Amino acid sequence: MIKSTAEVRQAFLDFFATKQHQIVKSSSLVPGNDATLLFTNAGMVPFKDVFLGAEKRSYTRATSAQRCVRAGGKHNDLENVGYTARHHTFFEMLGNFSFGDYFKEDAITYAWTFLTEVLGLPKEKLLVTVYESDEEAFSFWKNEIGVPVEKIIRIGDKSPDKKYESDNFWSMGDTGPCGPCSEIFYDHGEEIFGGPPGSPDEDGDRFIEIWNIVFMQFNRQANGDMEPLPNPSIDTGMGLERISAIMQNVHSNYEIDLFQALIKDTANLLDCTDLEHKSLRVISDHIRSCCFLIVDGVVPSNEGRGYVLRRIIRRAIRHGHKLEAKGHFFHKLVASLIEQMGEAYPELAQQQAIIEKLLRIEEEQFGRTLDRGMMLLEDILANLESDTISGEDVFKLYDTYGFPADLTADIARERHLKIDQNGFDVAMGLQRERAQQASQFGTDYNQQLKSDHKTGFKGYDNDSYSATVVELFNSQQQTSVNELLPGEQGIVILDRTPFYAESGGQVGDTGLLHLDGGVFEVEDTIKLGNAFAHCGVARTTMGVNRRVKAEIDIERRAAIVKNHTATHLLHATLRKVLGEHVTQKGSLCDAEKLRFDFSHFEGVTTEELQQVEKMVNDEIRRNHEKQTESMYIEEAKERGAMALFGEKYDDEVRVVTLGDFSIELCGGVHVNRTGDIGLLKIVSESGIAAGVRRIEAVTATSALDYINQQANKLNNVAALVKADASNVDAKVEQLISRSKLLEKEISQLKQELAAQAGSDLVNQAIDINGIKVLIADLDGVESKALRGMVDELKNKMQSGIIMLATANGPKVGLIAGVTKDLTNKVKAGELVNHVAQQVGGKGGGRPDMAQAGGSQPENITSALESVKPWLVEKLS
Ligand code: ALA
Repeated sequence: MIKSTAEVRQAFLDFFATKQHQIVKSSSLVPGNDATLLFTNAGMVPFKDVFLGAEKRSYTRATSAQRCVRAGGKHNDLENVGYTARHHTFFEMLGNFSFGDYFKEDAITYAWTFLTEVLGLPKEKLLVTVYESDEEAFSFWKNEIGVPVEKIIRIGDKSPDKKYESDNFWSMGDTGPCGPCSEIFYDHGEEIFGGPPGSPDEDGDRFIEIWNIVFMQFNRQANGDMEPLPNPSIDTGMGLERISAIMQNVHSNYEIDLFQALIKDTANLLDCTDLEHKSLRVISDHIRSCCFLIVDGVVPSNEGRGYVLRRIIRRAIRHGHKLEAKGHFFHKLVASLIEQMGEAYPELAQQQAIIEKLLRIEEEQFGRTLDRGMMLLEDILANLESDTISGEDVFKLYDTYGFPADLTADIARERHLKIDQNGFDVAMGLQRERAQQASQFGTDYNQQLKSDHKTGFKGYDNDSYSATVVELFNSQQQTSVNELLPGEQGIVILDRTPFYAESGGQVGDTGLLHLDGGVFEVEDTIKLGNAFAHCGVARTTMGVNRRVKAEIDIERRAAIVKNHTATHLLHATLRKVLGEHVTQKGSLCDAEKLRFDFSHFEGVTTEELQQVEKMVNDEIRRNHEKQTESMYIEEAKERGAMALFGEKYDDEVRVVTLGDFSIELCGGVHVNRTGDIGLLKIVSESGIAAGVRRIEAVTATSALDYINQQANKLNNVAALVKADASNVDAKVEQLISRSKLLEKEISQLKQELAAQAGSDLVNQAIDINGIKVLIADLDGVESKALRGMVDELKNKMQSGIIMLATANGPKVGLIAGVTKDLTNKVKAGELVNHVAQQVGGKGGGRPDMAQAGGSQPENITSALESVKPWLVEKLS
């Protein structure tokens, strides 16, 4: 009896294996072959190029259980999660595929056989839909399968002017494979609300689509044109969770074994007794997408895939908050997910620590602003005059408190309100514009030049090469010329060259172009389209069609390639030490150093850096031989070659392998054996943007130089403190604590001195109406000594009024003291305030002692002079 989710998954794959389908492992949620697609949103995504005819496989029939995410992008279910019985951000899609092999009839027969015979579903519970004009599918369902006509529903386009916009026309995205489809629905019974497909109540939960059979026929172009595919093909998809719900006799996906376990664990964690609470569903849905996205290398961030992940995490946290979660809970659910899905997906357990850590960091960050954001939102809601939250408010919540718009929408929806999405988009757009303007820098003038030539690169194996000048530019005039005269700055394009033109992080070569009578000095090499542009200065007349011997600066190149190969080792090592989420975000290899930017969510610790450094150096000493091969991109990916997501690669790519340690797509130049690098030393690690870290390192002689410099510095410091390198740290520590001690002593002495000086002041007291008054300017006395002085003076005077001022640089310190017997006549606070106001300050305090500061030392004298008349008036 097939019942559990795991059994359904296996039965499906087994069934199609008996029909000669190749079982293909689920691929990553981050599509490797399509930068336009946010996430793998259907089982067909990994096969997209096969449908298009751009890629060949050894089989024409395949089946898979593919992990999918539908959040953000064309297929986006995020907003519905928690509100229906069947929407998820993450789900598994069971599918069978034919690449130009079988078509409609077999596809329909297989689906029907699996559902009714293997799973044993009653035929009368099923109904089907076809695309309105698809007579073929209609009659096959009717005549061959025997579905009664009232259970075959034709679904057309949403409106006459929107051709192919239909529930029965499926497309992967705005472009790509698509075609009409036929769907199979299951009737969960009349006790559940909902109508059949095409009826007004179709969104209810009674009739649920379980299987979609797509007759792949077109490749939708960006302009909307439908280009026929080389071969009509089949793509099908059945949500594992939906079909499992049916097999388990429940009508909501959230009631299946897997979700019940997750919901129970979540409820336990949150002390929630209402197992039906919608927030429990939301959280148990979201933990799945979050964990799998992180497994596939996505890291929370403010853009692209990372932002979708962040939105899902924040939505989950907010629902936890609704259930009155105390502290951080979300990351604690990773363990329960592993219990449920770890067997089918071992990568979950392998990356448990990193998933938990990333989620916890997000919880901490968002937790800090969630409460305050909710307060603002409540405020906004209380003052709302319509049923829509304005775009500006949604933006403010986003900008200040990190509330993604769909989170605000989610809260709004709970209160039967809406958000002004358009207004929000406008506000976001404006912000983006501002950010862009702030980061604009001058364009490289060379990029304005264009060349149609294609230069052959000979520099993988040659340091010098004979070549012909095919085009010349004068840099100053920015024009194409026939000749460059001695002393002129220009650009030389050759038909072939050993000079590497800057790309992939490796800087361009420098060197000389020799010709009869002189040279052209190359200061840099860049690409102008497919032409290699040698930029520099003519030292002799240079003309189009001249023959030259192009010779690179070998020493510089040798240093550059060491840094480049070391970058590959570093990249592979970081992924091993920090985790698979590490991906390259930028790279620079020049003759002095290498700089590598990568995704990682926190600072790399000293221990980790040392581990990385050690591992790279181990691999250097293993002296791997470099291999370069050219192969099809698919093969490279199958071998696990690292590529940059979002980068467009040619069909045929160059792959650089360093033994068993590193394999990367790369067009750059490398050392022959890793041992040539000699040594790698990390110089710095820092953060350059949210979630992006930068490591700088040096290799070979530069590494040795660096180490020597550090050693010299240490020796110099040791000499200065009269120690040697071995005990310099203890010596410095000693000196620091001694100097702290001395500072303390000095400060005490100063206070004592001031008190002393203070007591001498008593003699300067004047008499106002029989009361002793002391007014003094103590230039240069530390403010903190004033209090002690006033106490001392009060003692000595027994009865009297004291007003002291002091200037320390631009700062004024003021203090007033009044002995207890006189506080009914004058209050120290008033007195000090009277003076403070005249020196740019304000103050107050107790009646017998008050202090204040100020910022206008130049006014101290006049301010103190005003004290006497002020007191005369007070005391009379
Ligand atoms: N690719 C089709 C879907 O996702 C099967 O529904």
